Amino acid sequence: MMAAMPSPPDDLHNALDVLLSRFSTADLTQSVRHLIKQYREGTPPADVVLGSEIDVAAYAGYRMPATFAAVSAALRHVAAVAPDFTPRTHVDIGGGTGAAVWAAAQVWPVLEKVTVLEQAQSAISLGERLAKRSGSPAVRAARWTRSVIRAGVEKPPADLVTMSYVLGELPTASLEGVVRSVAADAGMVVLIEPGTPAGYARIVAARDILLEQGLSVVAPCPHDQACPIPSGRDWCHLSTRLNRSALHRQVKTGVLSFEDEKFSYVAASAQRWPKAANRVLRHPLKRKGLVSLELCTDEDGLTQEIITKRQGELYKRARDITWGDEWPPR
Ligand SMILES: C[S@@+](CC[C@H](N)C(=O)[O-])C[C@H]1O[C@@H](n2cnc3c(N)ncnc32)[C@H](O)[C@@H]1O
Repeated sequence: MMAAMPSPPDDLHNALDVLLSRFSTADLTQSVRHLIKQYREGTPPADVVLGSEIDVAAYAGYRMPATFAAVSAALRHVAAVAPDFTPRTHVDIGGGTGAAVWAAAQVWPVLEKVTVLEQAQSAISLGERLAKRSGSPAVRAARWTRSVIRAGVEKPPADLVTMSYVLGELPTASLEGVVRSVAADAGMVVLIEPGTPAGYARIVAARDILLEQGLSVVAPCPHDQACPIPSGRDWCHLSTRLNRSALHRQVKTGVLSFEDEKFSYVAASAQRWPKAANRVLRHPLKRKGLVSLELCTDEDGLTQEIITKRQGELYKRARDITWGDEWPPR
């Protein structure tokens, strides 16, 4: 999905500028390189990636805008499929510097009580300071708790539970127990991972566990059956475009003014919401007089639908469709 661009809101953007200004660009850039290497190579799950103050600042500068954009896009899908879902309480697990907290408060301004569970004290410290600069009362008042997530971990019950870009940092053997604990007592659970084959594999595994627990998928899938994407040959992921701030460009030494963040996710709930419509799985092919859509559907698995100009209004709507949208649109 090349969604309308969920760049960080002004208050987050300003908070990042102010709080990161006390670090030198050279130090931030060096830490960004170090983090990119660690994330590419994968780290032993026992290591705390965001261990030092400078690494946390670098993460906030170069990754938080992107994880914010991915979480925003996923939560917007959830809000579209379940418009009557109005969460008052939110728990974010492995919250880092708080990307999901900011994203959820933007999608659901009705949120009142927010709790962040995070293992790294330096991430909590920066996350809390950023949050104090938010325009959202719920984000400002968020409770940040130092906690190491594992199977059976205690967390407050909440209408919304998110865990973004965390499953990949946990020991593989703990995935089932963690997902079960995270989903227990959650009104809606949303798990987000990088849009890579490995990230998707974790999301599919988590999705199976959530279904076994009796939850139903809210988004992005239009069904609760096994994922129809052939294992090992392809992976379900979406993409969201975000503007890079000047700071972001400096610390990432990037030249482009935007980047595309690829992500995979699943949202599930014990409550039965109306199912999502078919999901557009690729950039639509748009030629003169026709639009071709690759779809994940409820009844026919993966299908291709071609909409031609002769279909009038439907064709006009298809011209505006992007990767990750529902089809037909609401
Ligand atoms: C890649 S960062 C993602 C941060 C944030 N959720 C985001 O989307 O930007 C992963 C975070 O998970 C935290 N984390 C990893 N394993 C954890 C565990 N077992 N318990 C608590 N936090 C954990 C890390 O300290 C780090 O802050």
